[in-house]
Amino acid sequence: MQLDTHPVLEGRRVTLRQAHSGDVEARLRLGNDPDILEMFGVSRDAVRPPTPESAARWVQKLIDHPRAWVIEADRLIGEVRLDRIDMQDRRASLAVGILDPECLGKGLGTEATMLVLGHAFGGLKLHRISIRVLAFNTRAIRSYQKCGFLIEGREREAAFVNGQWHDDIIMGLLEHEFADFPGVASIGNR
Ligand SMILES: CC(C)(COP(=O)(O)OP(=O)(O)OC[C@H]1O[C@@H](n2cnc3c(N)ncnc32)[C@H](O)[C@@H]1OP(=O)(O)O)[C@@H](O)C(=O)NCCC(=O)NCCS
Repeated sequence: MQLDTHPVLEGRRVTLRQAHSGDVEARLRLGNDPDILEMFGVSRDAVRPPTPESAARWVQKLIDHPRAWVIEADRLIGEVRLDRIDMQDRRASLAVGILDPECLGKGLGTEATMLVLGHAFGGLKLHRISIRVLAFNTRAIRSYQKCGFLIEGREREAAFVNGQWHDDIIMGLLEHEFADFPGVASIGNR
């Protein structure tokens, strides 16, 4: 049986759905917040406001991606992807970003991550999900720990951001750890 590559994933407060061309305006409205882009390793002096072209590229990249979703609360607020899916070793890496500063720290990104993990382990039957996160991104590290991820290692001085070297933290989560994790009970849809 063929698995739907972009199922709509419904949580309590967020819905994950496939991007479409009508999302360009919403992406433009989100802007490029320097505090948020810094968490992806973009130096402040490199941040530019989005243009219609860059917003269209952002949307098209998600449309073309084999497993990517936009995150919607009452409006589009971000994106979440399963990158580098390897069905031989049943693993992938996860990337998540809330792009609206007003929506940070409210559990919406954590809920989106849990929904994708439910799909990754429950639907795709993956065995391992990994995440790379800048060491100074303590909110993200905490969010991933809340989803069951463990810190597995540290790559020293892997990123040069705002004129300084920063370490990357490598985190991982295995299928049986996720199944046993208490937070799983709160997923709306697997
Ligand atoms: C990382 C992200 C997905 C987390 O999702 P979220 O819904 O905002 O996270 P939560 O609200 O569940 O908060 C996570 C934890 O961090 C804590 N936290 C919140 N703001 C914080 C801050 N500014 N600094 C440190 N910790 C913070 C919260 O207290 C919470 O822990 P708790 O539940 O034990 O109290 C989201 O914040 C985001 O997209 N950030 C911007 C982009 C980014 O960093 N992407 C990840 C790149 S690897």
